[in-house]
Amino acid sequence: MFSSYFESSAMGELLRLQKACHGYASCCSREAASAGRRRRAVVVSSSSAPAGLTCPSPKRPLNSSVLEADHLKGSGDSANAGLRIGESIMAASREVVRIAAIADLHYGKLSQGALLPLFARITESADVLVISGDMTDYGLADEARLLAKDLTTALRIPVIGVLGNHDYEAGQHQEIRHILTDAGAVILDGETFETHGVGFAGVKGFAGGFGRGALGPWGEDIVKRFVHEAVDEALKLETALARLRNEHRIALLHYAPIRGTVEGEPLEIFPYLGCSRLEEPLTRYPVTAVFHGHAHHGQPTGRTTGDVPVYNVSLPLLRELTPDAPYRIIEVPAPTSATVPQH
Ligand SMILES: [Fe+2]
Ligand SMILES: [Fe+2]
Repeated sequence: MFSSYFESSAMGELLRLQKACHGYASCCSREAASAGRRRRAVVVSSSSAPAGLTCPSPKRPLNSSVLEADHLKGSGDSANAGLRIGESIMAASREVVRIAAIADLHYGKLSQGALLPLFARITESADVLVISGDMTDYGLADEARLLAKDLTTALRIPVIGVLGNHDYEAGQHQEIRHILTDAGAVILDGETFETHGVGFAGVKGFAGGFGRGALGPWGEDIVKRFVHEAVDEALKLETALARLRNEHRIALLHYAPIRGTVEGEPLEIFPYLGCSRLEEPLTRYPVTAVFHGHAHHGQPTGRTTGDVPVYNVSLPLLRELTPDAPYRIIEVPAPTSATVPQH
């Protein structure tokens, strides 16, 4: 889809930049392959962040209702292989809902089993896992089958995800979605999902740039089509958020909605890492937190202009910051019965 927008030679420079971004985004498959072999989970903390990258203190409230988890522990092998994701899970009776997040798994043909230990630790540490896209490396159904097998082997909590641009590469995104859905994951593309009383809205999003530099729908038709794709994704997100009545709502994206969490990437590819148009629905329908991926070397945290926390949970980025625990966990207060929406 992306390349079809750039057949015009007039857009050749944009195409080269997009390809550069694509190659940049592709480089983490080997990292993903080894990520699951880490043994001890620790929280993302400023003490472990390399110079130039910042992480909030694990105990510092991000806002009045979101805390970062400070107790990630445990590992182990699956004892229940063959079940669907989340099949054996009962909602824990606790005062918070622990939401784990990760992105850019980039599962390839050699990735089978690579993230099993990581998924097992997440199962022990969280109540739900969100995956912000780029499930596969080349967008192949076979890659999705390998991921589905690992998810079903190791995860015993609900999994909610969106697809990323890599999952569209081979034109097999519908099959990828079906494979992951059949495994028990919930793949959102403008839909909503609720678990543990928390509402989730997810879209892939699209590129286009940020702030005053965002590409506008002006000039050649191909430029307008490019911009309209970003607008359509933003409208899908807004429509989904408008349907959620939960006290706590989570937005799940692949592309970044703000510039802050792509800082650190080459400036030339910023326009291909996200789009401010995705931030507009988050202003009209404020959420508790936003997760995204795609910017493999951006910043782990940022905020919208409405002060909503935004987390870049790209696996390569989190492995740079906290190689022993390359995922984010936030905690939101569990809804009381009085605040659980009635359907
Ligand atoms: Fe990626
Ligand atoms: Fe991506």
